[in-house]
Amino acid sequence: MKLLVCGGAGFIGSNFVRQRVLEHGDAVTVLDKLTYAGREENLRDVADRDGYRFVRGGIEDAAAVADATEGANAVVNFAAETHVDRSISEPDAFIRTHAMGTFVLLEAARSRGIRYVQVSTDEVYGSIEDGSFTESSPLAPSSPYSATKAGADLLVGSYHHTYGLEALICRGSNNYGPYQYPEKLIPLMILNALHGDALPVYGDGMQVRNWIYVEDFARGIGHVLEHGVPGHAYNVGGPDEAANIEVVRRIVELTGASEGLIEYVTDRPGHDRRYSLGSEKSRALGWSPQVRFDDGLERTVAWYRDNHEWWEPIRSGDYRAYYERQYGRALGERLETLD
Ligand SMILES: NC(=O)c1ccc[n+]([C@@H]2O[C@H](COP(=O)([O-])OP(=O)(O)OC[C@H]3O[C@@H](n4cnc5c(N)ncnc54)[C@H](O)[C@@H]3O)[C@@H](O)[C@H]2O)c1
Repeated sequence: MKLLVCGGAGFIGSNFVRQRVLEHGDAVTVLDKLTYAGREENLRDVADRDGYRFVRGGIEDAAAVADATEGANAVVNFAAETHVDRSISEPDAFIRTHAMGTFVLLEAARSRGIRYVQVSTDEVYGSIEDGSFTESSPLAPSSPYSATKAGADLLVGSYHHTYGLEALICRGSNNYGPYQYPEKLIPLMILNALHGDALPVYGDGMQVRNWIYVEDFARGIGHVLEHGVPGHAYNVGGPDEAANIEVVRRIVELTGASEGLIEYVTDRPGHDRRYSLGSEKSRALGWSPQVRFDDGLERTVAWYRDNHEWWEPIRSGDYRAYYERQYGRALGERLETLD
């Protein structure tokens, strides 16, 4: 296939591009604005492959989108602002990228008559105490992040309904794995544990998430792209659920850090208690997750332990100022437990 992958320099997008180029032989153009979360280094191992092209630009920029769409026969859109905490303190970019950006991409796909996959999240359904959400559960987002993602999903659905665009939606649960920016729970805790920094746990730490290893989610998106029915949404959830505090305790064990580093801090405003996805519809397409949480977490800790050169520039750059604003304390600079 000839794919335009928007937001392909981020965490999940870069894992997806790697799979499509190396395992499927697809020609891929990546369109990415390179915000703080996007890095061309994430795509270093595919950059010299035939058919690969990188375009720097925002999905809300019609000229950049027109250039990047040239020759593509499908669009997969990962481009987003993705951190709920940032959506609470600075929602503007979320609205621009998710609303205007999705609109510009949909118009480009419509004018060329090409397939379109929107990468979305379980957070659009809101929190659920028991059971799991299906694709027909109502959308009840809680944060500016999930509300703007839900808005984008509705717009995508309308382009199928109104214009007949071959549009699909793929909703993933919480991802973890290599190349995830350290503001997110798992890499934050791994890197802090390795440095002997405090491990800040929101509220009582009993928020439950349905964890999916990033390569499983990327394969699920590929499956929906190839086999999904236009006009449909597909949930792609992980095989295991765990409360945040359990995740942090496992990271403490795997890194050999001290439990005494765990520190309970003021909860995020409006924090959802539990997410859970039923993924029968995507399983019926022939996809299933391959990596259980214990195994995936071990692999993820090993990746961060072995890839200093990936996270050192982040941890010594603008991320420090973000961390201080968010947690009211500085990050340590010294590795405590890594040799
Ligand atoms: N991380 C998760 O747990 C998770 C779970 C389910 C769904 N998702 C969805 O998957 C997608 C990718 O998430 P991620 O965790 O890889 O995010 P990320 O923050 O790591 O990457 C986002 C990428 O989008 C790019 N980007 C941001 N705004 C852009 C714009 N206006 N134009 C072009 N590029 C832009 C960034 O530069 C970055 O490369 C998002 O749509 C997110 O909502 C994420």
